Amino acid sequence: LSAITVIGSGNVGRALAGGLHRAGHEVSMGRRDPGAGAVVDGVEALDVVTAVAAADVIVNATPGGSSVDLFAPLADTIGRRVLIDVSNAARPGTAVELQRSLPESRVVKTLSTMLFLVMAAPELLSHPATVFVSGDDETAKNTTRALLHDLGWAPGQVLDLGGIDTAGAVEAAYPLAMAAVRAHGIAPFALTAVF
Ligand SMILES: NC(=O)c1ccc[n+]([C@@H]2O[C@H](COP(=O)([O-])OP(=O)(O)OC[C@H]3O[C@@H](n4cnc5c(N)ncnc54)[C@H](OP(=O)(O)O)[C@@H]3O)[C@@H](O)[C@H]2O)c1
Repeated sequence: LSAITVIGSGNVGRALAGGLHRAGHEVSMGRRDPGAGAVVDGVEALDVVTAVAAADVIVNATPGGSSVDLFAPLADTIGRRVLIDVSNAARPGTAVELQRSLPESRVVKTLSTMLFLVMAAPELLSHPATVFVSGDDETAKNTTRALLHDLGWAPGQVLDLGGIDTAGAVEAAYPLAMAAVRAHGIAPFALTAVF
């Protein structure tokens, strides 16, 4: 079991912190204003620096457009930690920029291609979906695979695309995902590769 901190308390942060806590991990949530309180039962709210320093694994559940500005000043604290980036932004490139600005860290992109509702509950979908994984460090990807398993994703649903440079293609699918959600309505949804 790992000590995990989820940064960001929106729908995604709540879903992932809740799912990882239910799986038995020690989970905290990093918030810009920890005084605003805890939002998931059993998950303590901390300031972002304290949360990052106490965790083995960091999950970025903040807006992708501001993520590099948020994390880059914390490079020394983040060190070699695994940074799982689930963010989306108006333009692709967040995961690569995070890896570049935190060179010691091990960034893994995943879970960004689905509605928050299914991230910790893939069984809500009518068919088994794909969860894409991109990252340069195999150990960090193995850690991520184990956490995805704890969230309910079967090994056969995980598609390892390769290095962190492949994250840009995943991030570029954001407008497609948004259009699909608009067309279908807010309901469990995930982009999926079928072979
Ligand atoms: N919603 C989805 O279904 C979905 C699916 C796939 C990917 N994503 C991506 O996952 C990330 C989180 O999504 P979300 O829907 O949970 O987003 P959200 O509701 O906008 O929440 C983001 C959280 O990040 C924190 N934050 C840190 N810096 C911030 C800043 N500069 N501006 C605004 N918030 C900031 C805030 O938490 P505190 O106030 O506690 O600091 C905020 O509640 C985004 O990058 C989104 O694109 C979302």
